[in-house]
Amino acid sequence: MDASQENPLLQVENLRVSFATDTGMRECVHGISFSLRAGEVLGLVGESGSGKSITSLAILRLLEPTAQVSGAIRFAGANLLELREAAMRRHRGSSIAMIFQEPMTALNPVMPIGEQIAESVRAHHPRLGSREIRDRVVEAMQQVALPNAAARYNDYPHQFSGGQRQRILIAMAIVNCPQLLIADEPTTALDVTVQAQILDLLAELRERHKLAMLFISHDLAVVSRTAHHIAVMRHGEIIETGTRSDVFGHPQHWYTRNLLAAIPTMRTDRSHPLAQIAAASPA
Ligand SMILES: Nc1ncnc2c1ncn2[C@@H]1O[C@H](COP(=O)(O)OP(=O)(O)O)[C@@H](O)[C@H]1O
Ligand SMILES: [Mg+2]
Repeated sequence: MDASQENPLLQVENLRVSFATDTGMRECVHGISFSLRAGEVLGLVGESGSGKSITSLAILRLLEPTAQVSGAIRFAGANLLELREAAMRRHRGSSIAMIFQEPMTALNPVMPIGEQIAESVRAHHPRLGSREIRDRVVEAMQQVALPNAAARYNDYPHQFSGGQRQRILIAMAIVNCPQLLIADEPTTALDVTVQAQILDLLAELRERHKLAMLFISHDLAVVSRTAHHIAVMRHGEIIETGTRSDVFGHPQHWYTRNLLAAIPTMRTDRSHPLAQIAAASPA
């Protein structure tokens, strides 16, 4: 099926986020818009502090209550910003799931990993029996290619490697078959080989489940491996969007060109430091 003929699954319109500070409200996201269809990956890229995580937390409505959020976040027909908290809770971890950056802090160190995945199932399917829940958990563990899934159900997070812990978090995210997966720097804490394996796994899951994915990273090289469309964010604004080939082949904004120039390639001369991203627009 041609995804371009469907309506967007997620449509963010003129999203603004402000936080209360000692000197009044400070706006950190300045009216950004983007959309995402089923089966599509949108890469949101930009340097640290550009507002990527705030954007993902705003979609899930996980920002602190004093944050002001305006605009519209349309998901499957409803504006998430207008939903009651109970309705929002039904989406979180079910139709919209999230993977965070740091696998160790996102897992409870004193609870077996199978039980942690089971909690996500139980939260959304309270009537399922413990046998069915366990079956779903083991199936999710198998889908993320954790070796000996059933046998490792009762193991604790410290008994797994960093890459395996990220797989456990991905299992937790997909166990309720979400339509939208938000991955905020999912591979940043991992070494390069493991990073590549996790990116391959996410691509495979997206394909198999027709997942829409919002893939967030400060690293354009990582985003370009994964995303069909790319939005470049800087200082709380989206300064450039396009297909991967548009952004790579014909970058419009000087900032995007600098991000591209900073990607190391096989030909990069590693005896010199990589190009730094300029702090301000060249005159
Ligand atoms: N809870 C908050 N209260 C006030 N300011 C915040 C809060 N969270 C983030 N910010 C500010 O918003 C900006 C963007 O943050 P963030 O979305 O985390 O950036 P990124 O994920 O792109 O690195 C930063 O300048 C940060 O200091
Ligand atoms: Mg962030």
